[in-house]
Amino acid sequence: MTIALVTGASRGIGRATAVELADRGVQLILLGRPSSALTETDALLTERSASLGKVEVDLADADGTAAACRRIVAQFGAPDIVINNAGIVDRVAIEQTSLVSWERQMAVNLRAPFLITRELLPSLRAKRQGRIIHVASISATLGAANASAYCASKWGLVGFMKSLAEELRDSGLMTLAILPGSVDTDMLKGSGFEPRMQPEDVAKTIAHYALDAPLAHNGSVIEMFGV
Ligand SMILES: NC(=O)c1ccc[n+]([C@@H]2O[C@H](COP(=O)([O-])OP(=O)(O)OC[C@H]3O[C@@H](n4cnc5c(N)ncnc54)[C@H](OP(=O)(O)O)[C@@H]3O)[C@@H](O)[C@H]2O)c1
Repeated sequence: MTIALVTGASRGIGRATAVELADRGVQLILLGRPSSALTETDALLTERSASLGKVEVDLADADGTAAACRRIVAQFGAPDIVINNAGIVDRVAIEQTSLVSWERQMAVNLRAPFLITRELLPSLRAKRQGRIIHVASISATLGAANASAYCASKWGLVGFMKSLAEELRDSGLMTLAILPGSVDTDMLKGSGFEPRMQPEDVAKTIAHYALDAPLAHNGSVIEMFGV
């Protein structure tokens, strides 16, 4: 049985990824805030006999996130695949960016992937197996007006992933980052950008790197520019 942990699966890329992995025979654990949308995703997985259940936490809560990961390891052991997907953006100029907004984007987009990785790594290392996939953004290759905290968090996430990849050498584990351009999800609404791909395009890419691609992709940055 292959087990994947996915964050941000209530909608958008995370939901599409959970469904894609389920269709490929993977069992899913959903880590996210309680909502009817997350329950709907879990129902889609149950229809496919692919749900191991939801673990409810706000990823902006550091202690709660770490504790949730410890509960997952205690209940299911080390997941084979970890998808750090949840993310948020506040589209405002730097002068209008409050400290609360800056810190919240850093907490969800960057600190949570660090905490999840840190808590799961010992059990993944013990199994000598596991793939940790981070959903960054093409914004981790450029700057964007009115999204400075988001951009900084995504550049940071790629830096974290690159460092993790170095620490994972010869461990049997791997990590990489997917950098989508404009995806047709709630996050894109109001951005002024036209969608250049569907969440399913990103989900199929994630599934490829989670299930098929060789470990030699450790440390890779997969850029998706769209059509
Ligand atoms: N859409 C794009 O154009 C695009 C482009 C490049 C990269 N990305 C990245 O792709 C990832 C998924 O984005 P999306 O487009 O699918 O966005 P989305 O539709 O807005 O979904 C965001 C997901 O993150 C979850 N989330 C947000 N804050 C959370 C928190 N505090 N605790 C737990 N979960 C939280 C949301 O859960 P709730 O339902 O509980 O809010 C939701 O499941 C993000 O990392 C985003 O930065 C998106």
